[in-house]
Amino acid sequence: MHGEEHPATKEKLATLESLESRYAVAKVEYDRLQDLMVAIEEQKKHLTQDVTSAQRDLDAVVKERDDALKKYAEYGNTLTRGIYNMPLNDFLAPKGVRGRNEIKQVVLPDVRLELNFLQSYSVDRCMTCHVAIDDKNFTKQNLARELEEAIFAINDKLAKERRRLLTPPLIENREDIEAGGVAAAWETLTDAQRDTFFDAVVKEVNKFQKMEGRPELEFRQPLLAHPDLDLYVGSSSPHPMSSMGCTTCHEGNGEETDFVLAAHTPKSHEERHHWEEKYYVNTAGILPEQNFYTAEHHCERPMLLPQHVEAGCTKCHTTPTDIAVHEGEPAATVINEGRFLFENVGCVN
Ligand code: HEC
Ligand code: HEC
Ligand code: HEC
Repeated sequence: MHGEEHPATKEKLATLESLESRYAVAKVEYDRLQDLMVAIEEQKKHLTQDVTSAQRDLDAVVKERDDALKKYAEYGNTLTRGIYNMPLNDFLAPKGVRGRNEIKQVVLPDVRLELNFLQSYSVDRCMTCHVAIDDKNFTKQNLARELEEAIFAINDKLAKERRRLLTPPLIENREDIEAGGVAAAWETLTDAQRDTFFDAVVKEVNKFQKMEGRPELEFRQPLLAHPDLDLYVGSSSPHPMSSMGCTTCHEGNGEETDFVLAAHTPKSHEERHHWEEKYYVNTAGILPEQNFYTAEHHCERPMLLPQHVEAGCTKCHTTPTDIAVHEGEPAATVINEGRFLFENVGCVN
């Protein structure tokens, strides 16, 4: 675009590098702490299971274990944790990455939870792992824009070194959109086009990462923002994370900080097998290992598949036609189509 030494080019390259390091740091930390966290969670579970007699006892234990966890997270003896918490190194890890601070959670006093004859409030800790869920820098739209710009900055560098250039991806059958202008036309793209473009732009940037011997960038949950932050999770949305948490819509075990025990539901048999290899629960010999079958057996509210989440909307919105449109865009489409079919075709037909 401008040449390698141009400040704009330098800035884009710097943005890419910072994305890269933020991602890498988050990933390493996330993987590494997994096993230790699971063992602690299991012990916690045992503690809570024994406490059924009185709410006061329960609260005391909960507080105790939370204090312990907090201490563990803050003072645990790990090198990276020390590095994150050093002054001036805050930029290394996005706020909320484990090791940088304690488990993250949202307390929902109005959402009651049945615990063997007791009622307690709900706690959602999903954001302990989904660290970027409410961060608008981590929306696909924003990342697509940053990566698309990065391709041009990279090409300036490659051109100067007479190396083969990257190809900025285009959208099929949208001849009106030029190379480099796709992210700017985001609002006019379908969901499928957005996803295809996003994958293509990541792949293209990764060609460069590979050439330079750097680790590939990978953008997926739990390191992405929530879809449609204006409507869900965002602090100015009608369903802010701080008051609605996650399990109100998604179901799942909000208290857990392990992938399997949080009751993620695999979409297919293939995904189940894949997840079982990737996320099995290593209890470090303290308790029997957990897998998706045992988790399903113990969990009363397994997570709804993403395509079924709207089933949860009617808990609060008893008339789904009221939410068919949000800021001019269609919303709650699945539930409204279902209602339409039910009313017009019925069950007997
Ligand atoms: C231990 C970390 C962890 C916790 C805790 C966690 N998640 Fe996840 N979540 C992940 C990971 C990792 C993925 C990506 C899984 C994959 O595709 O391999 C994911 C994926 C998802 C997805 C997409 C699933 C799909 O089928 O594509 C949803 C929805 C989700 N999480 C919701 C939640 C909710 C709601 C909670 C709280 C009840 C939660 N998560 C707690 C790590 C976590
Ligand atoms: C008000 C309801 C609502 C709340 C609250 C909510 N979500 Fe969602 N979530 C949805 C809906 C609906 C979708 C599907 C949106 C779409 O595909 O456009 C979704 C999608 C997702 C996805 C992406 C799944 C995929 O297909 O890749 C993840 C991950 C996720 N939610 C996690 C969370 C987490 C973590 C929280 C809590 C911080 C949360 N959600 C809170 C309604 C909600
Ligand atoms: C826990 C209760 C709860 C659940 C579950 C819930 N909502 Fe809401 N929703 C609310 C509340 C409360 C408001 C109003 C917020 C306000 O007035 O600021 C709202 C507002 C909205 C609005 C804005 C309405 C307007 O007039 O613009 C839309 C759209 C919406 N919800 C869609 C959904 C969808 C889709 C789902 C399921 C994926 C869902 N909601 C699940 C409580 C909920």
